[in-house]
Amino acid sequence: MLQQDGVNRRAFLRNAGITALVGAVGGRAPVAAAAGAVFDEPVNGKYDFDTPYSRLGTNCVKWDRPMVQNGKDKVAVGMGIADMDFRAAPCITRALSERMKHENWGYLDSTKPYIESVVKWNKQRYGLTINPEHVVLTTGVHPGIIAALKTFSPPGSRVLLLSPTYNGFYGDLTYTQTKPEDSPMKLVNGRYSIDFEDFERRISHDTNTFILCNPQNPTGNCWSAEDMTRLGEICLRRRVVLLSDEIHCDFVARGQKYTPFASLPNKDIVNNSITFKAASKSFSLAAMKVAWFFTDNLDYLERVKANNRADLSTLGLIANEAAINEGTEWLDQCVSYIDSNHEFVESYMKANVPMIKCVKPQGTYLSWLDVSQVIEKAGLKQQAMEASKNAPKPVTPEQIAEKWFVEHAGVHLNAGSSYGTGGAGHMRMNIATSRKTLEVALNGLAKGTKNL
Ligand SMILES: Cc1ncc(COP(=O)(O)O)c(C=O)c1O
Repeated sequence: MLQQDGVNRRAFLRNAGITALVGAVGGRAPVAAAAGAVFDEPVNGKYDFDTPYSRLGTNCVKWDRPMVQNGKDKVAVGMGIADMDFRAAPCITRALSERMKHENWGYLDSTKPYIESVVKWNKQRYGLTINPEHVVLTTGVHPGIIAALKTFSPPGSRVLLLSPTYNGFYGDLTYTQTKPEDSPMKLVNGRYSIDFEDFERRISHDTNTFILCNPQNPTGNCWSAEDMTRLGEICLRRRVVLLSDEIHCDFVARGQKYTPFASLPNKDIVNNSITFKAASKSFSLAAMKVAWFFTDNLDYLERVKANNRADLSTLGLIANEAAINEGTEWLDQCVSYIDSNHEFVESYMKANVPMIKCVKPQGTYLSWLDVSQVIEKAGLKQQAMEASKNAPKPVTPEQIAEKWFVEHAGVHLNAGSSYGTGGAGHMRMNIATSRKTLEVALNGLAKGTKNL
């Protein structure tokens, strides 16, 4: 039975992989374009999020890297890094195809039209008024945050974080030779909240910056205006610059709300902040390398700008511009699809995977799984201790769990321990994929943990 399921799963992934190689990497899209084919092919709703669109063999982190790391025979459903499996919004492919007809790739000139689009997008979608003169483009949110850290946080100083938090921030700190100061959040019945006393207590003479993540990766929290005002007040009073990463802002569950930090009524608090955003999460354009930051604090703006060098590419700008100018309808359908995926995950887990606990998050397309029982029952703590004996740095049970889930469930998840204090006992699962692929992953988790 298990063997049969394994074969079916592999066949599913392989077939989907062939689709990808023909449809995404090979010539299908350009050929279709040349033949005058329309890219919008409605299946369920106007846009098709339901047909698996495999990315195997495209040199992508989400699907190909686990195979490189674990061996080609260990085919795993890629549920790790935060990008989406869907076919790009048709408006993006159309714009790129159009630009491809002009076969010259020399230096770009003005980025002004894109900045105007960014301003319009923020106004229309989030009701946020941004002065175009105060918007700076970067090649990603990471490069923007790194420029800010270089500006305010000298090597050796501390950067405040609410943990568990996005693991990429720790990489930014390593790069800028700064040190993390984790303020662990409180966890009650799967819901996280801020421990404000702890947060303030952790600010010392060498804490110059705090990185807020809203909606929060990996817990999914959409921070309220009250929470952010309280954080902002502390930061202002203690002279800590608040860096607000809002890259996940479009993925908000039904009934929840994204509040831009820059929309808070207290302008002193807002003026002590810089907001970092992009269309890259919303439209899965991570490798197209365009993001932006803004602040009305001209002193902050000029200083961070001096540490920022954005080497943008023509295709990156074309893709991002098409996305925010024409992609609203696609994005709305995508967000709704993701929301249903979250509901599916929550009910499936409750019914079929008693070993793993999860609650529907308020935002993001990430599911934060409590796998502490799996770690316990499968003896992964002991294995981590053994593995640590010969390793340059301690191996965590969650790192062992990452391999365990590939082997026993055929699913690749991200190790919770990489998300800082409070990440122990957890794995992060990216659910931005077709329902069928999600089902294959969840079935794998159910079978893999059944006999523990
Ligand atoms: C919270 C957060 N910030 C930043 C990034 C990466 O941003 P970029 O690719 O624009 O550097 C990610 C990617 O997963 C993220 O989750």
